[in-house]
Amino acid sequence: MLRLFRPGQAGMLPSWCFRSKPWFAQTPLPVKKMAKKNADHAALQERVKELTCLYNLTQLAGRSGTSLEDFLQGAVETLPPAWQHPERTAGRIVFDGQFYVTRNFEEGGPSQSAPIQVNGKTRGRVEVVYLEPMPPAHEGPFLREERNLIDAVARQIALIIERRQAEQERYRLQGQLRHADRLATIGQLAAGVAHELNEPLGNILGFAQLAEKHPDLPPEVRRDLGKIVATCLHARQIINSLLLFSRQMPPQKAKLNLNAVVEDAMALLEQRCKRSGIAIVRKLAADLPEIVADASQLRQVLVDLAVNAIHAMPEGGMLEVTTQAGDGRVVLAVQDNGVGMSEEVLKKIFVPFFTTKDVNEGTGLGLPVVHGIVTSHGGRIRVQSTPGQGARFEIELPLDVDGAADGENVDGSSSSEGLDSGRR
Ligand SMILES: Nc1ncnc2c1ncn2[C@@H]1O[C@H](COP(=O)(O)OP(=O)(O)OP(=O)(O)O)[C@@H](O)[C@H]1O
Ligand SMILES: [Mg+2]
Repeated sequence: MLRLFRPGQAGMLPSWCFRSKPWFAQTPLPVKKMAKKNADHAALQERVKELTCLYNLTQLAGRSGTSLEDFLQGAVETLPPAWQHPERTAGRIVFDGQFYVTRNFEEGGPSQSAPIQVNGKTRGRVEVVYLEPMPPAHEGPFLREERNLIDAVARQIALIIERRQAEQERYRLQGQLRHADRLATIGQLAAGVAHELNEPLGNILGFAQLAEKHPDLPPEVRRDLGKIVATCLHARQIINSLLLFSRQMPPQKAKLNLNAVVEDAMALLEQRCKRSGIAIVRKLAADLPEIVADASQLRQVLVDLAVNAIHAMPEGGMLEVTTQAGDGRVVLAVQDNGVGMSEEVLKKIFVPFFTTKDVNEGTGLGLPVVHGIVTSHGGRIRVQSTPGQGARFEIELPLDVDGAADGENVDGSSSSEGLDSGRR
């Protein structure tokens, strides 16, 4: 039977099969409509490029173990493809005075830039440069959307840097906490050993001194007794250092001016510095407020730091001592331009008996003692050093010890026992 098919009828071929003309023979879209369609398509492509650029940035940031330098170099490479004329576009990122550029970068062409503001501070900028003149658009040859994009890129970079810095700070503080914990344990051990040894040592010293008083001693016995006494005194000095390190010797605190303590300590070392070709530079704040502290312990801090500095400058150099008033605290800095310290050495300098000196030159107790004294004054110590470029020890002491944390509590830049060391 012959069946007649009508367009649109259920179960039949769709209606387009029955159009009077096939699709390729239909009249083209009106020119205006076509132009709009093309423009929409182009705009969409631009958006895709922008989103790809921002996506690539987050991908880069997410890569673990990438250094900041590698991240910024990667970030600058994402810029040209996101602009209207990628092949004639170059990019540059400036951060903290360092430049990161695309391979084709040249200065001088039309450019647009956006500042990189990390924690409210401008640290650099993102720049896009056209390598040849381009037709005018909204901002010179650049599109309005490109302004939005470059601003967004700069913001994104700043956010990523802020996050990285916060992360690094967290790591640093965790490291310091671990270091502080280790030092506290060593301190307890040192205190225990020191107490245990103190008494028998006192007995040996006492009896040796008593025996020395005997009138009829043969000269060699007297000489030997003299050696026993001298050795005991040396051992007692070490025990005292360990007690100072483990804060078992409470400071005798009184109001004092730190500048006066500096002058005292430097007077002791003046001749020694002169002989070693070391110039002492004092930069003492005139209006330094008084602090409550143990003058003789602080003098010891200064002498220990200065003697280390002298050892670090065998060819002569400059020893700079600075005092400064801060917010509820005073700051004492001892700086030299000697041999400096490696990262490895820096990690261990507050551990008792760590020394890089020969047996008769150093015991490795100077800095642990400095650390113990500073901590028992509620202060904190920071060290910066680079091999070959000297070292700087900075000590912060609170004006009012009672109001200060007991040294086990410090701000973000320092650990829980007032310790911070790093590269310069
Ligand atoms: N200003 C400095 N420059 C370079 N290295 C230093 C400086 N201060 C300390 N150091 C390093 O830190 C180590 C430990 O110093 P610390 O004062 O604790 O012990 P020491 O000087 O070796 O011996 P001691 O002070 O007991 O005589 C030193 O051996 C040295 O390697
Ligand atoms: Mg020393």
